[in-house]
Amino acid sequence: MSKITFMSGEKVPLEMHKVRMVQKLNLLPVEDRARKMEEAGYNTFLLKNRDVFLDMLTDSGVNAMSDNQYAAMMQADDSYAGSETFYKLEKVLQDTFGMKYFLPAHQGRACEHIIARTLVTPGSVALMNYHFTTTKALITLSGGSVEEIIDDEGLKIESSASFKGDIDIEKLNEAIKRIGKDKISFVRIEAGTNLVGGQPVSMQNIRDVSRICRKEGIVFVFDASLLADNLYFIKTREEEFKNSEIIDIAREIGSLSDIFYFSGRKLGTARGGGILTSDEKLHARMRELIPLFEGFITYGGMSVREMEAMAVGIRETMDYNVISQTPVFIEALSNELISKGVPVVTPPGGLGCHVDASRFCEHIPRNQYIAGSLNAAIFIASGVRGMERGTLSEQRNEDGSEQMADMELVRLAIPKRVFTLSQIKYTADRISWLFKNRRLIGGLEFIEEPSVLRFFFGRLKPIGDWPELLVRQFRKDFGDSL
Ligand code: F0G
Repeated sequence: MSKITFMSGEKVPLEMHKVRMVQKLNLLPVEDRARKMEEAGYNTFLLKNRDVFLDMLTDSGVNAMSDNQYAAMMQADDSYAGSETFYKLEKVLQDTFGMKYFLPAHQGRACEHIIARTLVTPGSVALMNYHFTTTKALITLSGGSVEEIIDDEGLKIESSASFKGDIDIEKLNEAIKRIGKDKISFVRIEAGTNLVGGQPVSMQNIRDVSRICRKEGIVFVFDASLLADNLYFIKTREEEFKNSEIIDIAREIGSLSDIFYFSGRKLGTARGGGILTSDEKLHARMRELIPLFEGFITYGGMSVREMEAMAVGIRETMDYNVISQTPVFIEALSNELISKGVPVVTPPGGLGCHVDASRFCEHIPRNQYIAGSLNAAIFIASGVRGMERGTLSEQRNEDGSEQMADMELVRLAIPKRVFTLSQIKYTADRISWLFKNRRLIGGLEFIEEPSVLRFFFGRLKPIGDWPELLVRQFRKDFGDSL
């Protein structure tokens, strides 16, 4: 993709695939979008997909599958125990990541559950570049806690650092000394650090962290859910790897990890999950839990058809043309927004374009869910469904006070090979309009607040009548346009 130059010199993210199956979309008028947002309690998780135009909530389980993936699904060997499909998937994973054992699970958080039950003891601390919502909730549920040791650059919205997901090695050494290695349940690196803007981790950092963990005898866990984008960034941003094959980068990461797990809803472009390890003892401890919580050891809660699709999807992830499509679209959307003055996380990372709600809505007080408010406003303005990644996605502290997020972001996820460039341009246009009219956007307050992972089911209401003002301004500026 990057080798194609246009006459004008313009950089165009050219698709290296063609679309042979389509799904009809529906764009509701702005008045209806506002009504649907109200009915959904200003929480985009509670919208019905039929009311959404472009679904940028997540890439989880909604990436476009290839012809070869669908073809493989027809050959699934459906059986409870000993399915041929399992052995096929196991071999692909062993060949790709060079690890010995594979344990299947129904999705990424199920892997986290198994790992937390195996390694987390009450009072222990898990060190990591940054937490993910389910990871932290499951560690806390087992009585442990999370300490983040990400490089300071990772928490800056705007930066020129290539690998903002890196662990700060000094912080790691200091934490091991302070906490003591026996009280550290594991050290975890999350590829494509989700909650800080899909920011990648460098191979150099993975090597350094692995070396320290091996020296200290601490288990090193690698969350590979967002590995596809991260592989692209290692190849394109880390000098040493510019001529490397993607599979060689993947294999080196496998060789450096003690436990390697992934959400197969993301990595492999199917639905499921898995844990890999070469450590016989760790494998034996985790294996016991699979039939109890997931399903028998040769399917682990996954549909056998999805396992077939995953085996092909993992192989296809080793193709540069396949994995580059998402990051180049994210870069295109981010650059289009930047050109209109809209604040976004830079450099653009993987997973999605991340809009900086703190600067977009400087006038909204911090305790009124800035990113949640902007996310609802984006839906009203465009029918595009994003995801709040800010204070709403945090858990309250034990004393009931708000745990303010480090960043207030709206994530516009770009599922792999799903959207076209004109849809990206439409999204940028509506968000740029909203930015011009940002003073109209107001805050939100809870009317129903669940105690765990509140962002999934929580319902809110606007403070004031700002959604109506937004609709009125939209009509004024766009006439009868949808
Ligand atoms: N780890 C990371 C880095 C993730 O991004 C996710 C899911 C998980 C673990 C859990 O995997 O959903 O299969 O159980 N992220 C999704 C998202 C939900 O929208 O970013 P899962």
